[in-house]
Amino acid sequence: MSNAATNEPTEVSDLDLFAPDIVADPFPTLDRLRELSPAVHLSRYDFWVLTRYDDVRAAARDWQTFSSAEGVALTPEFNERLAGSILSADPPEHEQLRAVLREKLAPRGLSAVREQIRSYADRLVDGLVERRTFDGVADLAAVYPINVVADLVGLPLEGREKLHPGADAIFAAFGPFGSYAQEHLDALISYQVWMEAMTDRAKIAPGGWGETILDAVDDGRLNRLSAVKAMSAYMTAGMDTTVNAVSAMLRLFAERPDVWAELKDEPTLAGPIFEEILRLESPVQGFWRVTRRDAEVDGVAIPAGRRVMLHWAAANRDPRHYPRPTEFELRRNPVDHLAFGYGIHGCAGQGLARLEAAELLASLLERVDRFELAGDVERRGNPIVRSLRSIPLRVVPTGARP
Ligand code: HEM
Repeated sequence: MSNAATNEPTEVSDLDLFAPDIVADPFPTLDRLRELSPAVHLSRYDFWVLTRYDDVRAAARDWQTFSSAEGVALTPEFNERLAGSILSADPPEHEQLRAVLREKLAPRGLSAVREQIRSYADRLVDGLVERRTFDGVADLAAVYPINVVADLVGLPLEGREKLHPGADAIFAAFGPFGSYAQEHLDALISYQVWMEAMTDRAKIAPGGWGETILDAVDDGRLNRLSAVKAMSAYMTAGMDTTVNAVSAMLRLFAERPDVWAELKDEPTLAGPIFEEILRLESPVQGFWRVTRRDAEVDGVAIPAGRRVMLHWAAANRDPRHYPRPTEFELRRNPVDHLAFGYGIHGCAGQGLARLEAAELLASLLERVDRFELAGDVERRGNPIVRSLRSIPLRVVPTGARP
């Protein structure tokens, strides 16, 4: 199909980006799409996908053309549920929603909770190192960020077991309503019912994010529905994402003992390693926008009113931007990666995610000499969040006799 307004023909493909075999290893398909055209129309779900670094970044910055206000998920049903949340707002509403937790997530707000996070990491890691064998996902990656964020919000302990399955199900629902989303629907509903009940001062601890959100309702900056959405958005966005970034790091250390050994010698590599893992894995693979006006992506025309996926994961492996993009490079330190998105919707919790990773790594560095894989790594089939189900690990504690 050619387009009169531009030089490039529109490439159309009927491939199913969310088929289980592609979700299991999306990168060869993403490479093909990236080489085919700057924007490919995926006819099965009727959206365009952008896969090149410069194009994804430019579209994320241009919210006037690539709007979030009609939802950043694929289906109209789920976008309806997202309406009024920070993710699905354009300015000026977006600015109001973002302002609510800005101070808590700014460097000063984060330094106030650093010790609390570190002491939690230490307690958790102490228990696991004592056990020697544990599951890197179920016992560590899925426990640590969930409890860090739930503590910051001020949520009760009872009911937290709904959080990770719920967040996983919510992320899946951003994509097509396929088998994974259907199988996890109960977890999504039970999470939402629980979160709704939490917008009650009697249930949450004073001084946390939850109270800040309810204060914004009381002084008229938010309505009650937006408060539920704000609480849920910060919880959801802060969980499965970090869970999977931490999982990917643990897997790396078990599969590449040389990386852990270098980090032990040079602890300042902790930050660069986290950024490189985020670039390679992109826990959130991509979100959508809707064109508010006719758009042009590197010579390809996309008419107004069409859904466009900004594929963070594909952009983060674009060889035009990162040489040897599939390699893990210890010293690459790709701080310009798009795993946290970019532009006005760029991740509000990226400082917290980096802090969580830094404190966990510091704790592990003190206590663990070596990680070993103690079984097969299993992946989840979530179409939107690149995620692991299980990493059986054995650790050799620091100072242990051989
Ligand atoms: C490694 C961990 C994380 C990753 C990979 C990640 C990824 C992302 C991405 C890609 C976006 C952009 C969405 C868009 O452009 O449509 C985003 C937005 C967001 N993230 Fe994160 N995130 C992480 C951790 C966190 C944490 C810890 C929190 C807070 C507790 C958080 C809260 C948010 C919020 C509230 C937004 C919406 C921002 C807005 O729309 O203005 N995220 N995140």
